[in-house]
Order: sequence, then C-alpha cells, then structure tokens
Amino acid sequence: MNSPAENPLDRILVLEMVRVTEAAAVAASKLIGRGDEKAADAAAVEAMRKAFDTLYMDGTVVIGEGERDEAPMLFIGEKVGGAPGKGPKIDIALDPLEGTTITAKAGPNSLAVLAAAAEGCLLNAPDVYMDKLAVGPGYPDGIIDLAKTPTENVQAVAEAKGVAPSDIIVCVLDRPRHAELIAELRSLGCGVVLIGDGDVAGVIATTDENTTIDMYMGQGGAPEGVLAAAALRCVGGQFNGRLVFRNDDEKARARKWGIDDLDRIYTRDDLVKGDCIFAATGVTSGSLLDGVKYLRDGRMTTDSVVMRASSGTVRWIKGEHRTK
Ligand code: FBP
Repeated sequence: MNSPAENPLDRILVLEMVRVTEAAAVAASKLIGRGDEKAADAAAVEAMRKAFDTLYMDGTVVIGEGERDEAPMLFIGEKVGGAPGKGPKIDIALDPLEGTTITAKAGPNSLAVLAAAAEGCLLNAPDVYMDKLAVGPGYPDGIIDLAKTPTENVQAVAEAKGVAPSDIIVCVLDRPRHAELIAELRSLGCGVVLIGDGDVAGVIATTDENTTIDMYMGQGGAPEGVLAAAALRCVGGQFNGRLVFRNDDEKARARKWGIDDLDRIYTRDDLVKGDCIFAATGVTSGSLLDGVKYLRDGRMTTDSVVMRASSGTVRWIKGEHRTK
C-alpha cells in the first residue's frame, strides 16, 4: 500500500465517497417518473455538492456540470471538499445524475456517479461526444482498437474468447447515428443490446459476466467516457475513446482544456492515470445497481458500489436510511 505522502487517495476515506453518490441518488429519486429532467438533475447536483463538504479533501471538479457560466454548482474548476488548502488535492469527475431522461421517465440504469484521482490524473474531457469501444477483463492488451472497423474488433474479441463473431453480444446506445454500426454488427450475427441512455452502466456491463455483454461500441458523452474508464481501471477491462467534434466551438473548447491532438485515440490509462476511486449509487434499478427504494415503514434503501484501482477492491454497499 502507498504511504499518504505518495498517494493522496490514501488520505481520503474511500467509503465516504459513497455517501456523496448516495446523497445525490436519494435526492434525484424523489423525482423518478415525474417527467422533469432538469429538476431531477438539480436535486442531485445540490445534494452532491453539500455531501462533498463533509469530506476531508481539497477537491477540484475537473469533469462536472459544465463551465462556470453554464452551471451554478459543480462546474469545472469548482473547489469541493471540507478542507480547502489543507486536505489532499483530489481531482473529481462527476455526474450527479447520469441518465436525466431515464430518471424523468422511470427507465432503467440511472446512476449518481463520480471518480476521484490525484491532481492531474483525469483527462479534462470537454462536454463533447466520444467514440467509445470497450471490452471486459481477461483479454490480451490491445485486443480492441478504435482505429479498426467494428467487424475487425468483434472478430478479434471472438477469436480470443474462442467463439464465433455471431456469439458476441455488443451494447450500443439506441440512436439514429448508430444505424450503420448496428447494421454492421447484425450482419455479423452479433447480439445487439440497445440501451436508451446511460452508457456508463453500458460500458461497465462488459465487466460483469451476468449481463452476457462482451463489448460496448458507439458514440456517447466524453465525460461519461472518462467515468466509465475509471471503473474499468478498477475492475479490469479495456477502453478506447476518441473525441468527436461537431463544430469549431467544440474544438476550441477542447483546446482550452489543453487537448491539442483532436484525433487522438485514448486508452483507458490515458483517460485515467495512477490510482483512482469510482463510486456509484443507483437511482433507478439497472444492470449495475438497484435503484433507491422507499419502504412502507419510513425506511429507504440504496445500492452502491465503490472501487479502487490500486487494490482492485470492489465493495457493494446496501444502505438503509430513515426518511423521518
Ligand atoms: P444525461 O444524464 O446527461 O442525460 O446523459 C445520458 C446519456 O445517455 C449518457 O449516458 C450518454 O453518454 C449520453 O447521454 C449520450 O448522449 P445523447 O443522448 O446526446 O445521444
């Protein structure tokens, strides 16, 4: 184990990170199925912001709710934590409500999620799209490559797994922009699991044999890509991401965050370096976690996971809370 001087994450309580995602999930859960995405997001943001202040750290949001002029709270660059200037310097990537639409419609797989790492260890990903390609643990390094076609990637994974390409199951966000990708995968005979939203859970699903999902492919948010890469850094699995720019404004935003090579393919370890913590609490139930549940006697339950890269520890935490 690293000494505190070597690794600032040793000085923050890993389990305490779950309090932060729990608080956001509980706040958002009150708006499940209420059709109001903004209100659900705002509730999660406010609760997460407050919960951070209970942690002994000098945190900085590097992936958050947007830039300072776009977001009132948890904006990029905002200081969080209860020990500014004193506690360990931690960079935080967060999404207080990953799956705002899911929550508003009471669909599956919305999460409150965050990743934490030592200062400078998380890519400051701008809020643009990212081409994503992921596979679970147990494959040789470099088995997936975003520079190759989906067919080549499926074939490589199938060969390593010792099955036919038609046995490979790929998770893809259900979007018109993925029509060609889905057609290509189906022409190989692959099973395509289409998800409506929530690609952090989609990528993590590749690490869980129970989901039967082998690979994740397609375009989603870049911030969510960094969060998913943090989870894979803890539990294993490979990830490739390439930023996708729709206009010059998005390119300028990337340059502002120090990204000069706009075509770069990032591996998991380019996105997240060194030790990291990944924590998530389910808002609505899904493949990764159960959602917040309200019991008749005034109790409420939460389901969370917290992982750490340096130890590879994964803790599943069921919380029981009194609502009164
Ligand atoms: P939000 O929580 O911001 O709604 O994100 C949900 C999500 O599905 C992400 O998981 C995914 O990365 C992104 O939206 C995809 O973006 P789009 O809906 O524009 O295709």
